Amino acid sequence: MSIPVITADEAASYIQNGFSIGVSGFTAVGVPKAIGTAIAKKAEAEHAAGREFKINLFTGASTGESLDGVLARADAINIRAPYQTNKDSRAAINEQRIHYCDYHLSQLAQDVRYGYFGKINVAVIEVCDYDEQGNLVLTTAVGNAPTYVKLADKIILEHNTNRPKELRGVHDIYMPADPPYRREIPVYKPSDRIGDPILKVDPSKIVGVIETFFDDEIKGFSELDETTMKIGENVANFLANEIKVGRIPKTFLPIQSGVGNIANAVLHGIGESKDIPAFEMYTEVIQDSVIGLIQDGNIKFASGSSLTCSKEAMDKVMGDLNFFRNKIILRPQEISNSPEVVRRIGLIAINTAIECDIFGNMNSTHFYGTKVMNGIGGSGDFLRNSYLSICTTPSTAKGGMISSIVPMVTHLDHSEHSLKVIVSEYGVADLRAKAPIDRAKEIIEKVAHPDYRELLWDYLKLSTKPAHTMQTLDKAFKMHLEFLSSGDMRNTKW
Ligand code: COA
Repeated sequence: MSIPVITADEAASYIQNGFSIGVSGFTAVGVPKAIGTAIAKKAEAEHAAGREFKINLFTGASTGESLDGVLARADAINIRAPYQTNKDSRAAINEQRIHYCDYHLSQLAQDVRYGYFGKINVAVIEVCDYDEQGNLVLTTAVGNAPTYVKLADKIILEHNTNRPKELRGVHDIYMPADPPYRREIPVYKPSDRIGDPILKVDPSKIVGVIETFFDDEIKGFSELDETTMKIGENVANFLANEIKVGRIPKTFLPIQSGVGNIANAVLHGIGESKDIPAFEMYTEVIQDSVIGLIQDGNIKFASGSSLTCSKEAMDKVMGDLNFFRNKIILRPQEISNSPEVVRRIGLIAINTAIECDIFGNMNSTHFYGTKVMNGIGGSGDFLRNSYLSICTTPSTAKGGMISSIVPMVTHLDHSEHSLKVIVSEYGVADLRAKAPIDRAKEIIEKVAHPDYRELLWDYLKLSTKPAHTMQTLDKAFKMHLEFLSSGDMRNTKW
């Protein structure tokens, strides 16, 4: 039986109010790009007719404008998990129009399989090749696609002919059994292949294929500036010294690097360092800087769940797939981010904070304890389980009016028990083997902005009696409150 070619509107006719949809992809790559607009159109028509229409949307991570953007604007999402970065979706979440479950990225697939999120009705999967027996070749990401196709009643394919069939061989599809049958995930080094290059699905579930031709909706990164360059240099020098003193083997260890401009700059800094040997990556997103470093031979291998590259870097990869196919693996995110593998291979995990406190707790997700920015993403999967967990942050935000180092974080994503090192443009705070008071001294002196050091010292002096952690509860958020009232944390008076 051949798979019928259908339009996006026909595909949307399979999607009913209250349905849970699982899509392929991770970040805006590998995500279906036609179905979102059709569902949004249907939602708007239903709303105009006075009827409810909202879906629950489960993805790999963030998506692009053509999925999260259009659906958020059409008020068509009820539950959303596990991660997003879209401005309209963020606004809807912060107004409680979307019910956002900000989730560890390694964990969603298994929790969906355990039934914690209810039934998955439809899976929508972007492919570069497929056949009638249900053999799918994914495009530039894997995400949670294996779980969604397994659980969904129906599958819709988006065949993106802008992505070559020759991507076959880049993916490694492996799904762990659920307890009590789960065994170890047999990845012992980033380049280990443990699964299948093809995603096999029950062909009787496929209701149709939408033919598309799309680029991925990835913005380029900001140019490196003085601050991000300095953070990158500080991380690289710190790691080079760790090799010198023997705490990191001379052959180095695999690296995970987070998302965003700072992460991109940090990786650039490590790649450029003459004192760090060529290394491997075990990460979730393979960003622009990785592509250049692979070409230069500074990165030997990169394992991830997506190729999240600007058009320019993506064209490089697509133009030389024979070269890159042996240097990149795309895995399901429960494998790319697996805590078990991360702990086993001794990962150096580097992620960016919104703010840290003087005792080493880290907030990656919320402004002022209330408004979500993106989400925890994979940062918890990696930081908690790594050999060495590093948090990078500029010492200030908003032109110096916000200190990224505060007395108490307004939202906790990674606790002092998980974080080993904090790096800003001013230096490196090494928190290993230090009690809270010693961490506070290290963080204030080494990474806080000079404009805020005295203020933070004075905060510590508010505690009149010694305590394990010297917090003063009625003043702990005074710097945040000062920013919200006068627009500048530097005006804080204890
Ligand atoms: N208070 C208020 N705003 C702050 C802030 C603070 N303490 N710190 C940063 N910001 C704002 C910046 O001003 C900027 O806003 P703008 O675009 O309006 O100027 C925005 O947050 C992003 O900051 P930027 O400096 O561009 O950082 P980035 O692109 O490197 O992203 C995170 C930083 C933390 C938002 C991003 O890394 C993230 O979402 N992390 C969580 C998920 C994660 O770690 N995933 C990786 C796992 S592999």
